[in-house]
Amino acid sequence: MGAVSPSEWHPSEDGINFHTRKWVKPEDLNANGTLFGGSLLRWIDEEAAIYAIIQLGNYRVVTKLISEINFEASALQGDLIEMGLTAAHFGRTSLTMRAVVRNMITRKRILTIERIVFVSVDEDGRPTPHGYTDITYDRDRMPREHPGTDTIRVV
Ligand SMILES: CC(C)(COP(=O)(O)OP(=O)(O)OC[C@H]1O[C@@H](n2cnc3c(N)ncnc32)[C@H](O)[C@@H]1OP(=O)(O)O)[C@@H](O)C(=O)NCCC(=O)NCCS
Repeated sequence: MGAVSPSEWHPSEDGINFHTRKWVKPEDLNANGTLFGGSLLRWIDEEAAIYAIIQLGNYRVVTKLISEINFEASALQGDLIEMGLTAAHFGRTSLTMRAVVRNMITRKRILTIERIVFVSVDEDGRPTPHGYTDITYDRDRMPREHPGTDTIRVV
């Protein structure tokens, strides 16, 4: 994908809202002086975990699968990048998401990941049904207790 003109550059794309922005800093660069893929994957994995927690209402979600990643463009130090995710499929215990990352400065797409699968697990790490079939745009499924400390109780 080449650069997109400002009039075609929207805050959402294919049903994906770009909630999270990152500022590319020196520690995020590879030896070529461009954005290190490992940094980007760490940010995406964290973003997907947060999305899955909100959608599945369970703090205990784990990464099961990240499909092929094609890095289409990169970013330089000081660039601003934005990440977006949407749910593609609710399984019984899993959630499949699609991710897009864009460079806000160059207006190029950095990558697309068609499938990121997270699984909802119980306290023993076994898959557990989440009971949801569609996306929530509210915070109605937010976990109300922290499984580790039992200290967070939202009423
Ligand atoms: C996630 C984990 C609990 C799943 O265990 P499992 O024995 O594969 O469980 P299941 O076969 O019951 O599958 C659970 C769900 O994952 C899905 N799944 C399993 N393997 C999959 C794969 N290769 N691709 C896509 N989805 C897959 C299943 O379809 C199922 O989804 P559904 O219930 O919505 O239909 C287990 O694989 C695990 O603990 N993995 C390590 C997770 C982790 O530590 N991630 C961080 C990486 S460091």
